[in-house]
Amino acid sequence: MSSSPPILEGRAAIERAVGALRDAQLVGMPTETVYGLAADAANATAVARLYAAKGRPRFNPLISHVASLEAAAAEGELDERANALAMRFWPGPLTLVVPVAAMARTCDLARAGLETIALRVPRHPLALELLGAFGGPLSAPSANPSGRLSPTRAEDVADAFGDSVALVLDGGPSAAGIESSIVSLLPGEPARLLRPGAIPREALEAITGRLQAPGGGAVSAPGQLASHYAPRAGIRLNANRVRAGEVLLGFGGAAPKDALNLSPSGDTVEAAANLYRMLRELDASGAGTIAVMPIPEAGLGEAINDRLRRAAAPRRGGGA
Ligand code: TXA
Ligand code: MG
Repeated sequence: MSSSPPILEGRAAIERAVGALRDAQLVGMPTETVYGLAADAANATAVARLYAAKGRPRFNPLISHVASLEAAAAEGELDERANALAMRFWPGPLTLVVPVAAMARTCDLARAGLETIALRVPRHPLALELLGAFGGPLSAPSANPSGRLSPTRAEDVADAFGDSVALVLDGGPSAAGIESSIVSLLPGEPARLLRPGAIPREALEAITGRLQAPGGGAVSAPGQLASHYAPRAGIRLNANRVRAGEVLLGFGGAAPKDALNLSPSGDTVEAAANLYRMLRELDASGAGTIAVMPIPEAGLGEAINDRLRRAAAPRRGGGA
């Protein structure tokens, strides 16, 4: 991870990215949620490189990104509930966990050996163009070193991974700024919200009915580890003012005018889009602790508070 990889846009960049992926190399890929670090999901060597670059524990499975519902149906078994969600939210920031299809191209390593698979059709035009040109599933975790803040700009990816990525496709700042919502739809099981994300719970439940909490099964998402998504600085939640050695991350109209503010108008969609970028900025200021003002649970507040609680949790070396 010495020199910086090229950050590219346009047609020629897509061709170069496809070449690199076919060559089992890694590519930084913009999505509407956060940037992903993409590898050929069918190639175990490429996927092993991905785990190594991320420093991710091997047992944490990856999302297979595909270009369409048809491509998803070749990788996983989508039941009626899964189809209904897919029709409503794909392309978009929804990941479905379903039984893996018998003929899936996604390799075992990418699924961490599970009998299930996580699938998503992203909405970002460059991601769709890349998937279309590549013609197969791409494993892509968020492009952050394991346990750290997710990237929302091409430069974040280049800075974090250096030349362990072949190139980074520049799709501008991520629109949502927070990861996809993950819903599991397994036979004989209720629909479960495994990770709150860029689609508010209420919008998902309009299709599925009440979503259950994650089950106690063998699968645990790294996003479910207690300490995750962490900046270097400590995090103090529900802060109403700053103490010595702290910097404030504001929310809403009551925040001091000179503080960074996730959303001066108290809009959780705007706050999600700003979350990782502002945490990065405050982290870079060198302060010991980032004090975050209270954020309501409604709308995307559930996903934002989930990430902030994990960022604030005691760190047990590494995270995932
Ligand atoms: O928005 C997103 O989802 C971004 C962009 C790049 O698409 N990706 C992302 O990937 O957040 P990652 O790897 O950082 O998080 C994927 C989550 C992990 O918590 C993983 O454990 C979970 O999905 N996951 C993957 N396969 C699973 C499975 N078969 N069962 C349960 N959870 C699974
Ligand atoms: Mg992640």
